Order: sequence, then structure tokens, then C-alpha cells
Amino acid sequence: MRELKILIVLIAFTAVTYWGIEPYAHHVMHPHTEAPDYAFSDLEEFHVVGDAKAGKELFAMNCQACHSLSSDDILPPMGHADLVAAYGVYPPDLSTAGDLYDTKFLANFIKNPANTAFDSIFKKHKEEELAKAKALAKSDEEVAKLQHSFEKTIEGYLAKTKISMPGFDYLSDQEIANIIAYMKAVKKETTPREATAQACGRCHSVNYGDLTENSSRDQLVGYLGSFPPDLSQMIKSKGDEYLHKFINDPQKQLLGTAMPRVGLTEDAEKKIVQYLEEVGDAKKDERNTLGVYVLIFMVIMAVFAYFFKVNVFKEVH
Ligand code: HEC
Ligand code: HEC
Repeated sequence: MRELKILIVLIAFTAVTYWGIEPYAHHVMHPHTEAPDYAFSDLEEFHVVGDAKAGKELFAMNCQACHSLSSDDILPPMGHADLVAAYGVYPPDLSTAGDLYDTKFLANFIKNPANTAFDSIFKKHKEEELAKAKALAKSDEEVAKLQHSFEKTIEGYLAKTKISMPGFDYLSDQEIANIIAYMKAVKKETTPREATAQACGRCHSVNYGDLTENSSRDQLVGYLGSFPPDLSQMIKSKGDEYLHKFINDPQKQLLGTAMPRVGLTEDAEKKIVQYLEEVGDAKKDERNTLGVYVLIFMVIMAVFAYFFKVNVFKEVH
């Protein structure tokens, strides 16, 4: 009977520790942020249906100068190293663009890359912050000050981030829709590794997965202002939850960061996190299964230990 009481007290304390402290620590260390906005609600709507055949020609005229599209044997006139030297970063091959990127994002990006990758989302988050601060402000003067610092921050930010792809705002919506239809018509389905190489590989390496960044290190630092970290261990250092929230909206976690939002669809983003998990935490499944076996082992051992103890104490009495 005594053992049972001790066990109940032990379980009660463990439960209090677990439910009282663990969720609290979790909530402090990983403050809640909303799920990423896969609808890209800050961007202009785009519903034009395109014609892939017309798009192929437009692609050759407007995009081929910098981008390859290997799934349709399209190569830019300049070689790899020259492209990196000219633009600071390698303009990615677009064979998988129709698969990886959201259509609305693509349309907005082609029209105005800088606004789509940076300015629009940055302003959105800064405005959310400003609205919160205004609600707490005590005087009109304080509000004016906040407004001023808001504008200064945006200015500083715009001066810092850049994207060397020119905008195509002179193309009509129909022409842009045609180019997107073409990229979708020739798109290649991607494995998680290819998705990561295509969407992130122009800036990041994943050394443990044998992916090297395909722009030169020095030029990337010159272009971005900082060197994009290797992604091999991100799943361990940041966790999958952080990555899910960060990848499609870096400004939300690191306001002002030089990493653009890349506009992935939800599926593509999941594939990339899956790949980072495969590379950085390949033994996760094994570990989880082993954990279950260890628990079963402990339960069986506990039963044996109990009977052993009863047996030993019988002799003591
Ligand atoms: C003058 C060179 C140049 C031309 C022309 C050009 N691009 Fe780009 N493009 C780039 C560079 C450089 C990047 C990478 C920019 C970066 O990461 O900062 C890029 C990136 C992209 C991306 C990746 C976007 C993302 O979110 O990761 C897509 C998609 C793209 N371009 C599509 C196009 C299309 C479609 C056209 C033709 C309408 C085109 N580009 C024309 C240079 C160019
Ligand atoms: C145009 C270049 C560029 C592209 C493309 C890019 N990144 Fe980054 N990324 C950066 C830079 C620069 C940083 C460093 C940011 C900083 O410290 O402000 C970074 C940082 C990160 C970090 C670290 C975040 C942190 O909290 O420290 C992760 C994770 C990451 N990138 C993942 C990705 C993934 C996944 C992709 C592809 C979907 C990607 N990045 C595409 C430039 C890029």
C-alpha cells in the first residue's frame, strides 16, 4: 500500500511539473506567431488565364537573357560565372518555377520584384507594429514621433535590401499570364532536394546534403550584405515550427533581414522543410521508435523490480 501512495505522489508531482512548467517555458521560448500567409494577401490579385505558346516567345524575349529553363532546353547567352558577376547572385533555373511558386506571387514578382520580395511585406509588418504602438501612445505628439520613426525605418530598410532582377511593369497582365502559363506547361515535378536546390540554392548551401550555393561567396556578401548561413543543421537549431513560419515570410521573424520572401506554395514549403529534416535530423524516426521501446523496457523492468523488492523484504520481516 505504501508503494502505491508513493507512486501516486510521484505521478502527481511529475504531472504538475510537466503541465505547469513545460507549456509555460514553451510559450516563453517560442512566442506564438501566426501561420504563414500562403494567400499572399498583401499582394495584388491576379486571375488572368494565360496561353503557354505565346508565353514561350515572351520568355525568350524577356527572361532568357538571365534565366535558363533546362526542362525546355533554354539557356541564357551568358555563362554561369558571368551571370553571378553581373547580378551578384545566380538567376535561378526556372524549370521548377511553375511548380514551386504561387501564381499570384509570380505575377506580382515579375511586375515588381523588389516590392514583392521585400517592400510590401515589410510595410505590412511595420504597419501592424505601428498600429499596436499607436494604440498605446498617450499623446498626438507621441503618435507623430512613432510615425516619423516608422518612415525612417522603412527608408533605412529599403536602402539596405536589393534585388537585381529588373521589373517588367511594361508587360500587360495578359503577357505576364502567358509567361506563367508557359512555365507551368514545361514545369518539372520536384523532389524535396531539388525544391531546396532551386528555391534556396542560389544563396544557401546545405553541406550535409551535398548542395553548394551556386553563387560565389564573396559576391553574395557584396550583394546581400551578409553571408546566408548553411542550412544543414537549421532543423536542429531552429526547429520545424520556426522554419515553417520563417521561410515564406522572413520579415516576420527578422524584420529588415536581407533574405527575400521567395513565394513558395504551401506544398513546396513543406517539401523544403522535409528535406532539411532528412538532412539535419535523419535519425528522427529511428529515435522516436527507439523511445517507445525504451519506455516498454522501463515498464517491464519496473514490474520485475517491484516483485524483486517484495521478495527481498519478505525475508527481512
Ligand atoms: C537581367 C536579368 C534578369 C532578367 C531579364 C529576368 N530575371 Fe528573374 N531573376 C534575376 C535574378 C538576379 C534573380 C535572383 C534575385 C535575388 O535572389 O535577389 C531572379 C529571380 C527570379 C525568380 C525567383 C523568384 C523567387 O521568389 O525566388 C523568378 C521566378 C524569376 N526571376 C522569373 C523571371 C521571369 C519570368 C523573367 C522574365 C519575365 C525574368 N525573371 C527576367 C534576374 C533576371
Ligand atoms: C537571395 C538570397 C536568399 C535566398 C534565395 C534564400 N535565403 Fe535564406 N537567408 C538569406 C540571408 C542573407 C540570410 C541571413 C539573414 C540575416 O541574418 O539577416 C538568410 C537566413 C536564413 C535562415 C536563418 C534564419 C535565422 O533565423 O537565422 C534560414 C533558416 C533560411 N535563410 C532558410 C532559407 C530557405 C529554406 C530558403 C529557400 C526556400 C532560403 N533561405 C532562400 C538569403 C537567402
